[in-house]
Amino acid sequence: MERLPGFRDFYPEPLPHQDVWSADARQHIFDKWRGTARRYGFREYDGPPLEPLELFTTKSGEEIVGQLYNFVDKGERAVSLRPEMTPTLARMVAAHERNYKKPIKWFALPQLFRYERQQKGRLREHFQFNADIIGETDPAADAELIALLIDTLRSFGLASEDFVIRLSSRNAWHDFFKHGGGDMAHEYAFYQIVDKLEREATEHSDEKLRALGFSLEAVDAFIEKGAPTIELQSILDNLAARGLRDFVKIDYRVIRGLAYYTGVVFEAFDRKGEFRAIAGGGRYDNLVKLISGGKVNLPALGFGMGDVVLLEILKARGLLPQFDASVDVFVLIEDENLRAPSLKLIQDLRTAGFVVEYSLTPAKSDKQFKRAQELKAAFTAKLESESYVRIRNLKSRDEVVAGVSDVANHLLIKTNPQ
Ligand code: HAM
Repeated sequence: MERLPGFRDFYPEPLPHQDVWSADARQHIFDKWRGTARRYGFREYDGPPLEPLELFTTKSGEEIVGQLYNFVDKGERAVSLRPEMTPTLARMVAAHERNYKKPIKWFALPQLFRYERQQKGRLREHFQFNADIIGETDPAADAELIALLIDTLRSFGLASEDFVIRLSSRNAWHDFFKHGGGDMAHEYAFYQIVDKLEREATEHSDEKLRALGFSLEAVDAFIEKGAPTIELQSILDNLAARGLRDFVKIDYRVIRGLAYYTGVVFEAFDRKGEFRAIAGGGRYDNLVKLISGGKVNLPALGFGMGDVVLLEILKARGLLPQFDASVDVFVLIEDENLRAPSLKLIQDLRTAGFVVEYSLTPAKSDKQFKRAQELKAAFTAKLESESYVRIRNLKSRDEVVAGVSDVANHLLIKTNPQ
């Protein structure tokens, strides 16, 4: 049985085949995501992976609707696997916002599903770090969120030479469109043309722009000028005060594909432009109101960072650590008469917090020792009698004999020599 295209198997390292993914690398990424979000005071939430289809069809825009993994369930409900987290978050916040002080700062690490054409950096399932701030209109919130995005990437060892946040605003484009005499009914169609400028042939973009009363020349000139709006300038100043100015640049080519964005939008890219977007986000001040049917009105902003492109970049830059299953102690049971007290020793050491391995069934002593070496155990411990244990440091080869109740202390000293 083969797995479905665009889905992944995650194996512990060392990986058996180049076609599988590393469960250790995934855990490494999750740890950094959680660690940075918590340092910024964000709290973790989660929602269901399966939602009513309607949650996504009206709010996200055609780009995502075309990629939905939807079906009718056994109860005749039209449902969809979640392609993104934001509508779920808006629903959850609207339901219980009174219980939380504003601004609400929440993060999640959902697995998301999009029926996309499988290509480099794009699969049919991915994990996404979502961080969102709800209930604050001031650009200080946008700056805080972008600082979190920068620090998350920095926590992996990436520097300002490696990535850049391209910062833009739909407000700037809104003014451009309005002052250029655009018909407001076609504003989102105009945004979609801008969103595809980098991916589509210029003649094609020009033709589509002309149909809306604009020219590619005028659009290019506006992008080229890149004059920051007041809100964008305030974000740039805020980031400069933190020493993070080098990580951002104004780039009006970014406008974002999703329909619900309202103001500042941004995307993170590798500097060389070799990879697809690492992350994207922005303000969506109307979504909570839309999803709650007008009951709750809260401004919001956030970003999503996928694990797929991030992992490609970390691999390319050699920034993934060596993943060893670190075993602290391998307990050797050479005399089967001592299995019961050995199990007691193993239990005590695990309770004390050590990673302990041993042979589940009787095995020759050289076989057990070989296994300890394969597992890169720091120590072996062997009961010599009911009350004494021989401890061996496998690196230095030092050996000591300690009382059974003293083993944990001895290992602590040895594993933390400072
Ligand atoms: P998005 O731009 O659709 O935004 O996705 C964010 C990131 O998720 C992308 O930059 C990319 O790294 C990753 N990603 C998206 N689709 C795939 C895929 N098929 N395979 C692998 N990686 C993928 C959103 O989803 C917004 N809901 C983010 C957001 C949160 N906006 C406000 N709050």
